[in-house]
Amino acid sequence: MTKRLVALAGDGIGPEIMSGTLEVLQQLSQKFQFEYELEEHLLGGCAIDQLGIPLPESTLTACKNAHAILLGAIGGPKWQMAPVRPEQGLLKLRHSLKLFANIRPTKVLPEMVKLSPLKPAIIENTDFIIVRELTGGIYFGEPRILDTDSATDTLVYTQSEIENIAHVAFQLAKTRRYKVTSVDKENVLASSKLWRRTIEAVAKQYPEVELEHLLVDACSMKLIQNPQQFDVIVTENLFGDILSDEASMLPGSLGLSPSASLGQHGLRLYEPIHGSAPDIAGQNKANPFGMLLSLSMCLRETFELSHVADMLETCIQQLIAQNHTTEDLNGQHTTHDIFKLVKQYIKEA
Ligand code: NAD
Ligand code: IPM
Ligand code: MN
Repeated sequence: MTKRLVALAGDGIGPEIMSGTLEVLQQLSQKFQFEYELEEHLLGGCAIDQLGIPLPESTLTACKNAHAILLGAIGGPKWQMAPVRPEQGLLKLRHSLKLFANIRPTKVLPEMVKLSPLKPAIIENTDFIIVRELTGGIYFGEPRILDTDSATDTLVYTQSEIENIAHVAFQLAKTRRYKVTSVDKENVLASSKLWRRTIEAVAKQYPEVELEHLLVDACSMKLIQNPQQFDVIVTENLFGDILSDEASMLPGSLGLSPSASLGQHGLRLYEPIHGSAPDIAGQNKANPFGMLLSLSMCLRETFELSHVADMLETCIQQLIAQNHTTEDLNGQHTTHDIFKLVKQYIKEA
């Protein structure tokens, strides 16, 4: 069946990493003879500028009708004071599409060891996945009130929300090394007490999977001290946001990390974990590997073309091995250079 894709380039470096990625997708589809339909839509600051709101109805409808969504990045200082910010568009999109599970892998390939700020012995063979709950917690709890001299956010989790994300984590662990680390703040937060109790209950259905619990502060330390110990980390929305940016630095750059968000009826959204990088936007400096690896996740999961995904990943691996990288990885190349090299590789493969 022809897959329907929606591309949301967004703001800042979003369009810079999206345009080349769509060219790579087109090249791959010709080489490997698969078909897709593509629509491009507005999300974030660009949508505010053109239509007054960050998630226009036309974008939401197109996304609901798609098999997969590719997202660049949204946000930036231009809209910091806007009555509705670009980020609210992204959160509404995740919530409307029930994209409850966000899969954020960190895999340090041998070629990447030299790029890590950590010592090789600590970093080599690191391979874990953060399963971040994406549609609950303090991001969505009500009330949310900003007064002049006080402010309120609300952190709510229901048992069923925790059960749903727990099953994703345990199922994933069964395809890997059979270990789940659940991260919470059980020593302080009521929501984390429910989290731990619920994870324990779900774990009983997966006796073959080892379960450990870590408090989030200790986990953030252990990610640096001994990242090899992790296989699948499952955690709530805000902790997952923070820990995944930390984890992205293990192989050397935030610009390397992809993600996939799982919704109902098989709909998925693929996006790099980084933001719109306003400090380098428009300068042809953005690292496109996180976006390309998100495309690779899309090829593997939505298109079920693992050989095409493998080829794209091998290409990125080889470029890194040959020091063909952008500035964030101490390389000399521009974003355009990298796309050119990727397309050359695919042509010759
Ligand atoms: P950021 O992720 O945009 O940037 C953090 C740092 O990492 C910056 O120094 C940036 O230059 C660098 N960086 C990020 N991606 C890079 C890449 N591909 N190549 C090279 N360097 C890269 O985070 P921020 O600056 O805190 O946020 C900027 C805006 O992005 C904010 O509006 C924020 O809300 C938004 N944001 C959006 C998303 C998303 O669209 N999913 C994710 C995170 C942040
Ligand atoms: C991410 C981002 C978003 C989040 C922002 C832009 C709302 O940081 O995708 O990691 O916090 O989830
Ligand atoms: Mn984030």
